[in-house]
Amino acid sequence: MALEKFDLTGKTALVTGAAGLLGIEHAAALLECGAKVVLTDINEVALQSAKTVLAKDFDPRNIYCEVMDVSRLESIRAVAANLVSSGHRIDILVNNAAIDPKVKGDQGVLETSRLENFALEQWNIQIAVGLTGAFLCSQVFGSAMAKSGVGGVILNIASDLSVFSPDQRLYRKEGTPEDMQPVKPVTYSVIKTGLIGLTRYLATYWAEKGIRSNALSPGGVFNGQGDDFVKRLSNLIPLARMARREEYRAAVQFLCSDASGYMNGQNVVIDGGRSIW
Ligand SMILES: NC(=O)c1ccc[n+]([C@@H]2O[C@H](COP(=O)([O-])OP(=O)(O)OC[C@H]3O[C@@H](n4cnc5c(N)ncnc54)[C@H](O)[C@@H]3O)[C@@H](O)[C@H]2O)c1
Repeated sequence: MALEKFDLTGKTALVTGAAGLLGIEHAAALLECGAKVVLTDINEVALQSAKTVLAKDFDPRNIYCEVMDVSRLESIRAVAANLVSSGHRIDILVNNAAIDPKVKGDQGVLETSRLENFALEQWNIQIAVGLTGAFLCSQVFGSAMAKSGVGGVILNIASDLSVFSPDQRLYRKEGTPEDMQPVKPVTYSVIKTGLIGLTRYLATYWAEKGIRSNALSPGGVFNGQGDDFVKRLSNLIPLARMARREEYRAAVQFLCSDASGYMNGQNVVIDGGRSIW
């Protein structure tokens, strides 16, 4: 049976940033395939709400929650120790956590997203979560997978901006002076491109331990953004629309299961065709 390769029964997956828009979807995707899922996030309240949402469709006994800050090694180690002491071995790691500062463009206010004004502190915070966080989680949970003798899967959630540069025209505010126009910050491109490098490094480093590492690069998900933005972005996409939040589930299931058993070190771009236009 072809679909048997998607079966994750007996596997445990850990998702970082699991309380966010896509984190819940990744968790649902893995639960659909029979995995137990450890939801982790820095935001405890949002984490509990995520569990409540997921428990409507899935057995709550398969859903665990751990508050974890991916930018702090002690926090990751503490969660890893809790999981070991409660008898859980992590087979699948989904590095999904990120800080995605919303592009605002407030009239008359110094536009801090612009490269000229971008604060070193913001650079450090965003890289610490989106890139260093993926490294630290891979170090802790990947090392355990390598030692286990069973192997595992690491999936890094990048973005279509891992393969092309932001089109800053998308974020323009009419009537705003050029030097105050909001932009997608430089950190986003650096983090997402960096995650592809991390993916390739891990894919070779632990290959003989049976650990596969791949990246998923989603295009923009519709989440109530303004009409102008949605129209501009849709014009750049052959399918002429943004993604629905659940449209990455099947890719997560493929990349985290034996269905992708011979795929390693790749970046799967799912963007409605934007990157080929
Ligand atoms: N939403 C999109 O359109 C889109 C498109 C492409 C890629 N992505 C990527 O998908 C991933 C998820 O995006 P999203 O839209 O769900 O974002 P989101 O902001 O809804 O969720 C991110 C989650 O990460 C958590 N987080 C922040 N700092 C953390 C830390 N230090 N430790 C642990 N958790 C922390 C937040 O609390 C939040 O729950 C991100 O990597 C994002 O870059 C999103």
